[in-house]
Amino acid sequence: MLASIFTVALAATGTLAAHTINFTSNCPSAIMQIPGHGVYRTGKYTFNGDVNGGIASAGRSCSQDGVPCSSVEFTLNGKYSTGDITLIPPHKYSARAAFQMTPGGSSAVCDNANCGPKNAFYKPDDYSAQRYDPSPNAGINIQITC
Ligand SMILES: *[C@@H]1O[C@H](CO)[C@@H](O)[C@H](O)[C@H]1NC(C)=O
Repeated sequence: MLASIFTVALAATGTLAAHTINFTSNCPSAIMQIPGHGVYRTGKYTFNGDVNGGIASAGRSCSQDGVPCSSVEFTLNGKYSTGDITLIPPHKYSARAAFQMTPGGSSAVCDNANCGPKNAFYKPDDYSAQRYDPSPNAGINIQITC
């Protein structure tokens, strides 16, 4: 009995959480920066361990920091993973941005420059735009459509 509890605890701490990001876009410029990992284009990627401060952007021409473009920010960790759309300057509406967190499904869509603070951050305290997922293996699906 004790031995099996011990084994379960070891298995839990010995396994890094897996966080999957699926980024799709038809825009001329689509770029995703994962600090500590690198810069990516569209696609499906799985990271073992925390993903902190990722940002995916698309439009006509976007820097790896998502300037001057519609951008989706995300942090995927073992606690409360979060995602949001940001239009805080120098970000700027460039394309329809949408995301869904997995497995919970919390989501946001911003399909015009005035989509409002329930859908996107316009200033740093627009917390109504923030979405969460409590799963230790939370992921995010991101679509930015030109
Ligand atoms: C990624 O998301 C797109 C758009 O939602 C979907 O069509 C595609 O099948 C997904 N790709 C993978 C590999 O799951």
